[in-house]
Amino acid sequence: MKKNSGSSVDIPAEELLKIIFEFASKLAHENDLDQLHLLMAEMGRSLTLADRCTLWIADPAEQTLWTKIAHGMNRIAIPIDSGLVGAAYRSGEAISIDDAYKDSRFNPAVDQKTGYRTYSILCIPIRNAEQEIVGVYQAVNKQANPSHFTEKDITYLSLAATYTGQSMEKAILYSELIESQKEIIMTMGNIGESRSRETGQHVKRVAAYSYLIAKGSGLSEEEARLIELASPMHDIGKVAVPDAILNKPGKLTDIEFDTMKTHAEIGYSIFKKSKRRILQAAALIARDHHEKWDGSGYPAGRSGDDIHLYGRIVAIADVFDALCSKRPYKEAWPLEKILQLIQSERGKHFDPVLVDVFFNHLDEIQAIKGQYADKN
Ligand code: C2E
Ligand code: SIN
Ligand code: SIN
Ligand code: SIN
Ligand code: FE
Ligand code: FE
Repeated sequence: MKKNSGSSVDIPAEELLKIIFEFASKLAHENDLDQLHLLMAEMGRSLTLADRCTLWIADPAEQTLWTKIAHGMNRIAIPIDSGLVGAAYRSGEAISIDDAYKDSRFNPAVDQKTGYRTYSILCIPIRNAEQEIVGVYQAVNKQANPSHFTEKDITYLSLAATYTGQSMEKAILYSELIESQKEIIMTMGNIGESRSRETGQHVKRVAAYSYLIAKGSGLSEEEARLIELASPMHDIGKVAVPDAILNKPGKLTDIEFDTMKTHAEIGYSIFKKSKRRILQAAALIARDHHEKWDGSGYPAGRSGDDIHLYGRIVAIADVFDALCSKRPYKEAWPLEKILQLIQSERGKHFDPVLVDVFFNHLDEIQAIKGQYADKN
C-alpha cells in the first residue's frame, strides 16, 4: 500500500460525523437495493472527497464484480481478477495509487468506455460479518490539490466498508426473502387458477389492477403493495372445487354454483390463522371478493363498508379481468361492454367510490392489460 503524506485535505472530524449520521439514517430507511447501493457509493464519495466512488459487489459464481451506476440501470460487471479493484478483492488489502496509469495492474477498459480519466484511485475491500470479502469500494480522483488519497481517506473508507459489508448483506438477504415470498404467493395463486385451464397472467393482472385501485383510492404505498401481494390468492379456495365444475364448458347448475361459491370461505379458512400481514390480507380478500356493495353477494351477504376494503378493491379488479378473458364457459367481452357493466354496477355490485377510481385510472388499467396479455 502506498502511503501519502503532505498537505492534509481530509474532512474535519465534525464534518465526518455529520456525513456519517446523515447517511446512517438514510441507509436505515432505504429498502430498495438499488438505492441502497447508490447511497453507499455516495457515502464513500463524501467521506473521501473523491470525484467518483463505485461500490463493487462480488459474484463468485459468475467470477465477476458488479455495480450499479444509476437507479434502474443494468449492472456493469468486470472480471473478478481485473484491475486494481480485482487486486484489492483478491489480496484483501487497501490499494492507494496516485496515478493509476503508472500501475500495471490498472485496467483502463472502463475509462476507455466512458471517456473518463482516472488519476488517483483508492480501493478498499469490503468484508461481511464473517470477515469474508464480499466486494470493493473504489474511490477515484481525489478532489483536492495534490490529488491523492490520504491515510485518513483509507481509514474513513474502511469504516464505511465495515458498515456497508454488514448492511449490504442484510439488505440482499431481505430482498431475497421478499422475492421468494412474492414467488410463493404467485405460485399459490396459480394453483387456484391453473386447474381452471387459465393462464398465470390472470393473477398478475389482478395484482396490478388491485394495486392501482388501492393507490388511487388514497391508501399508502405500503398498504397498496400489501394488497398487490395478497390479491393473487383471492381464488386459492378453488383448489377444493372439483374439475368437472371448475372447467365445465357451459353454465353451472344452481347446485354446482353453490359448490363453486365455497371457494371464498375456503380461501379464508386457509389463511385466517396466519399472523403474517400478507396472509391476513389474503384471508380477507378471499373471503370478501364476491361480496357485493348492495348485500347480494356471497358468502355472507355483507354490504357497504362491512365488506373489507381489500375485498371491494379486488372485486373490481377480478371481475374486470374475468370479463376481459375467455373462460371455459364464456368468451372475452369487448372493452366497451365491460366498462358499461362496471359503470352500471356502481353502487350495486361495486363500491361507488372505487368505481370512480377505476375510471380515473383507465389508461393505466389498459396499459396493464396490454402488458400482461394472455399468450395464445
Ligand atoms: P371468474 O371466472 O374468475 O369470474 C369472477 C367474477 O367475474 C364472477 O364471479 C362474476 O362476478 C364476474 N363474471 C365472470 N364472467 C361473467 C359474465 O359472463 N357475466 C357477468 N355479468 N359477470 C361475470 P361469480 O359469478 O361469483 O363466479 C365465480 C367463479 O365461478 C368464476 O370465476 C368462475 O370460475 C365460476 N363460474 C361462474 N359462473 C360460471 C359458469 O356459468 N360456468 C362455469 N363453468 N364456471 C362459472
Ligand atoms: C444491490 O445489491 O445493491 C443491488 C441488487 C440489484 O439491484 O439487483
Ligand atoms: C475500473 O474502474 O473499472 C477498474 C479500474 C481498475 O481497478 O483497474
Ligand atoms: C379464474 O379466475 O377462474 C381464472 C381466470 C384466468 O386465469 O384468466
Ligand atoms: Fe373468486
Ligand atoms: Fe379470479
